[in-house]
Amino acid sequence: MKLGIIGCGAIGTDLALAADKIKEIEKIFLYDIKEKASEDLCNRIEKAEIKKVKDFLPLVDVVFEGASQQAVHKYAEEVLNAGKDLILMSVGSLIEDDFMNKLKNIARVKKCKIYIPSGAICGIDGVLSASIGGLDDVTLVTTKPPESFGKSYFTRKVLFKGNAREAVKKFPANINVAASLSLAGKGFDSTKVRIVADPVVSRISHKILAHGKFGRLRVELENMPNPNNPGSSYMASLSAIATLKKVIDPIHIGI
Ligand SMILES: NC(=O)c1ccc[n+]([C@@H]2O[C@H](COP(=O)([O-])OP(=O)(O)OC[C@H]3O[C@@H](n4cnc5c(N)ncnc54)[C@H](O)[C@@H]3O)[C@@H](O)[C@H]2O)c1
Repeated sequence: MKLGIIGCGAIGTDLALAADKIKEIEKIFLYDIKEKASEDLCNRIEKAEIKKVKDFLPLVDVVFEGASQQAVHKYAEEVLNAGKDLILMSVGSLIEDDFMNKLKNIARVKKCKIYIPSGAICGIDGVLSASIGGLDDVTLVTTKPPESFGKSYFTRKVLFKGNAREAVKKFPANINVAASLSLAGKGFDSTKVRIVADPVVSRISHKILAHGKFGRLRVELENMPNPNNPGSSYMASLSAIATLKKVIDPIHIGI
C-alpha cells in the first residue's frame, strides 16, 4: 500500500513515523505547504519522498489529511475524484452540509471511502450505534484550564451553552470534537455543547453524555498533550494511526 500525507505537523508526523514501521506500507509521499516541514519529516522517514498532491495522487491508495480546513477544501474533491480513500482529521470542514454531501456523492460514485478518526474524543462508536435506535439527547462538555482561554478565573465558569453549530463559531478550537460528535449523533443543530473553564483542572477533558432507546452513555476523556507537541492532544494522533491500521487490517474491532 502507498500512502500520501497532506500536512506534516504534529499529527502528520506521528502518523508518518508509525506508517514507516507498518510492513504493508511500501511508500509514503509527503506534502506540506511549508517546505521545511515536509523536508524535516522526510529526513526522519525511510520510505518517504516529497511530492505535490497532484503528483502523488496517481501513485497512492490512501491519502491522510492532517493539515487544515483550507486543505480539505482544496484537496478532498481531487483525492476522491481520483478514487482514493481519504482519512480526514480536519473534520470541522464538514460543517457545511453542501460541501459534505458533495464529498459523499463523489466517494459513492468513485467507490472510495472517507474515514474520520474519532480524534481527541472517545465514545463516538457508542453514539453512532445508539443513533440507529434513536437518540434523545447528546451533550459535549469540554473543560479546560482557564489559561487555555487566555483567562484567569478562580472558580469554575461555564463560558458557553448552546448547540454545536453556534459553539464552533464562538470557540473554533473546539470545532473538530464538536463536528465528529455531531456527525455521529444528532447533527450540528441538535448536539448540545457546554464549554467550561475550571481552575481545578490541568488537562483538557471532553465528556460525552447521551441518552436514548439504548440506555444512557457517559464517556470522559482526559487528554494528555502529545509528547512531541504540547499544543496537540496525544489521543488525536493515536486515533489517526488506529484509523490507518483499520484501513489496512483485515479485522475491524468496534464500528
Ligand atoms: N479530529 C480531531 O479531534 C482533531 C484533533 C486535533 C487536531 N485536528 C485537526 O487536524 C489538523 C492537523 O492538526 P495538527 O495538530 O497536526 O496541526 P499542526 O499545526 O501541528 O500541523 C498542520 C500542518 O499542516 C500544514 N498545512 C496547513 N495547511 C496546509 C495546506 N493547505 N496544504 C498543505 N499543508 C498544510 C501546516 O503547514 C502544518 O505543518 C488540524 O486541522 C487540526 O484542527 C483534529
